[in-house]
Amino acid sequence: MSAASSGSRPGQITIRGAVLERIGAERPYARSAPLRVQELTLDPPGPGELLVRIEAAGLCHSDLSVVDGNRVRPVPMLLGHESAGTVEAVGSEVGDIAPGERVVMVFLPRCGECAECRTEGRLPCSRGTAANNAGELLGGGRRLHRSVGGRTSASALEDVHHHLGVSGFATHAVVDRRSVVPIGADVPAGVAAVLGCAVLTGGGAVVNAARPGPEDDVIIVGLGGVGMAALLVARALTSGTVTAVDQQESKLDLARRLGADRALTPQQAEEDGVRAGAVVEAAGHPRAFETAVRLTAPGGTTVTVGLPAPGALAEISPLVLTAEARTIVGSYLGSAVPSRDIPRFEQLWREGRLPLEELISGTIDLDHVNEGMDRLADGLAVRQVIEF
Ligand SMILES: NC(=O)c1ccc[n+]([C@@H]2O[C@H](COP(=O)([O-])OP(=O)(O)OC[C@H]3O[C@@H](n4cnc5c(N)ncnc54)[C@H](O)[C@@H]3O)[C@@H](O)[C@H]2O)c1
Ligand SMILES: [Zn+2]
Ligand SMILES: [Zn+2]
Repeated sequence: MSAASSGSRPGQITIRGAVLERIGAERPYARSAPLRVQELTLDPPGPGELLVRIEAAGLCHSDLSVVDGNRVRPVPMLLGHESAGTVEAVGSEVGDIAPGERVVMVFLPRCGECAECRTEGRLPCSRGTAANNAGELLGGGRRLHRSVGGRTSASALEDVHHHLGVSGFATHAVVDRRSVVPIGADVPAGVAAVLGCAVLTGGGAVVNAARPGPEDDVIIVGLGGVGMAALLVARALTSGTVTAVDQQESKLDLARRLGADRALTPQQAEEDGVRAGAVVEAAGHPRAFETAVRLTAPGGTTVTVGLPAPGALAEISPLVLTAEARTIVGSYLGSAVPSRDIPRFEQLWREGRLPLEELISGTIDLDHVNEGMDRLADGLAVRQVIEF
């Protein structure tokens, strides 16, 4: 439940953002409009926090999963977690970022102190995860409020939950310092945004979890923003055969254009006996996970990145795992240390080795976010980016 508070405090500003009002709305979302663009009140940044003016925000399946209820989160929630922008103000205790600097948002802050944070990115931060599940910032509590019942004149305000410490489908956000990584002034806003989720997650799954050698073969199953980013990173870093797998012809066409040696449907890949030592599943469906396991070579590693519904189960053969000495590993946030890995992907982009612009299938404005969710649910887009 949202706690009501009253009055407007010094330093609060009015922003516009897309708030998810209810979970499980019927399709098409263009008609049921589960996300409602509205004015909200945003607190000034507290200690260790930043106020960021958002430049761009990508639509990721993990946003859709909150809308359709596959990831249950508290509502009302201001969605969006793949965003980038310019710092407008800093709270106390922020010594290393100044107004005017540009930042990429990261959807899981790292506290830097818990046992999980000492695993070089392998495990998600436990404190960050708890804050994300509660819809709060890492420092505790919520900085987003709105008039109760949408009455603009009311003095009573109710809290709105943060999405993954970011809430990037908005003109501005207050975020924890540990939810951002600085980015160069030369990086276009859309590219900066996708670095924060699609590239960190998909690319990180390749370099940190699958870890192919420079000549190893790689297979990517599921070619949305995350899988397509994994494909780009694999193409940039290995000279082995890179195979892209998806059910959608349009995704296979794009994958070929982006340098995949082969682009196949799951059925074709299995019939052709295609296998690789490094396989990344980025579809979020148990059938795709089963495909990824079947396409993994003896001694190889299957990395699962997708986030299917909590009750979804997969069927795999334990015998094959034993007999072929195989590994299956899950990867959240690209098993990454964002402050180390985002600059690495940024530099590959700068050198022309990672054409991240190709991940952006179109730009939309905030008022069309529900239509964007429909296109995402239909599998028609790689990354749609909201520009502010
Ligand atoms: N682990 C993490 O940290 C993390 C971060 C971001 C996203 N995710 C998850 O990763 C998944 C991918 O995200 P996205 O935004 O790229 O999604 P998306 O919806 O844009 O793309 C998914 C792709 O998978 C394809 N697909 C679906 N079923 C398939 C199957 N059986 N075989 C092959 N391909 C299939 C679809 O056609 C689509 O192209 C989602 O589950 C998302 O929630 C995980
Ligand atoms: Zn995401
Ligand atoms: Zn931690």
